[in-house]
Amino acid sequence: MKILVTGGLGYIGSHTCVELLKDNEVVVLDNLSNSKEEVKDKIKQITGKDIKLYIGNMIDENLLDKIFTEEKIDAVIDFAAYKAVGESVKKPVEYYTNNISTVLVLLKVMKKHDVKKLVFSSSATVYGQPDHVPIKETDKTGGTTNPYGTSKLFVEQILKDLYQSDNSWDIAILRYFNPIGAHESGLIGEEPNGIPANLMPYIVKVASNELECLSVFGNDYPTKDGTGVRDYIHVVDLAKGHIKALEKLEKEQSGLYIYNLGTGIGYSVLDIVKAFEKVNNIKVNYKIAPRRPGDIAECYSDPTKAKEELGWQATKTIEDMCKDAYNYIVKSKEN
Ligand code: WQD
Repeated sequence: MKILVTGGLGYIGSHTCVELLKDNEVVVLDNLSNSKEEVKDKIKQITGKDIKLYIGNMIDENLLDKIFTEEKIDAVIDFAAYKAVGESVKKPVEYYTNNISTVLVLLKVMKKHDVKKLVFSSSATVYGQPDHVPIKETDKTGGTTNPYGTSKLFVEQILKDLYQSDNSWDIAILRYFNPIGAHESGLIGEEPNGIPANLMPYIVKVASNELECLSVFGNDYPTKDGTGVRDYIHVVDLAKGHIKALEKLEKEQSGLYIYNLGTGIGYSVLDIVKAFEKVNNIKVNYKIAPRRPGDIAECYSDPTKAKEELGWQATKTIEDMCKDAYNYIVKSKEN
């Protein structure tokens, strides 16, 4: 198939393009707001294959129309969104515009060109403050605590309403837990601009002496060691989940499917620090700091549905995630 990947040069998008290129042609639309054009070359280095790249914004209906006219697109994977929780609190209008309005334009152009297969990148944040773990897809959503999570919740509702109005659509909504790690080649990975908000990119910068010390946000949570517990999933496992979701859409003519993409295992902050130190044989300086507003104690998935319906499950270990995350930074400093 020929797949349009919006945000395809980004962290999760680029890893998904690598997997897609095994059996598909890939067209990427990316506005380079949180990615670099050179990632296209890295993808070629890994796969030996080219992607067709369009640089621009999904809000640009004429550009989207041009892409669908020039390329015979069979399905779309939509990654294009801003995703920094803290930033979204400070810039709600930018987040709602970028994360919601762009999808409305995409859906309009897809309909015009009769392309109705869509894989949408959603997030575990749509569950808000879960009242129990592990979390199933049937658990309540809502009560989101930031505009980023709310924007994902709103798009999920838009897709449900769209399917309700026209059930010739074929949609898979994928709720990511905590993606970390990098491709084993070290050629692509996560490289947030500035001071990282997320745990693993921060640990990597401390380990590579770019930052001095990790602040562990709270050790008084009701968890095994008092620090926050999350469901970390290797970004390559996550990418493979998208391939399986596409295969599902290819097999079914229509439908709307929702899947948690996680490992089903919760690790604490200190678990991650210890695993990272062990597998990379390096010290990570940290100090206990106050809790981060909006954080929850525990969040991890029940990934049974994706295993049963997609034949997908995460296989990489926390050690793989820590090794590959550090390897990426080491390799990027060599080049
Ligand atoms: C993980 C744990 C922190 C940084 C967010 C988004 C989610 C997804 C992933 C987009 C928590 C602790 C963190 C630090 C720390 N993004 N921590 N010191 O908040 O679970 O999820 O990113 O889809 O939607 O909500 O991820 O990596 O920020 O935090 O102690 O410097 O690490 O308290 O327990 P989070 P995170």
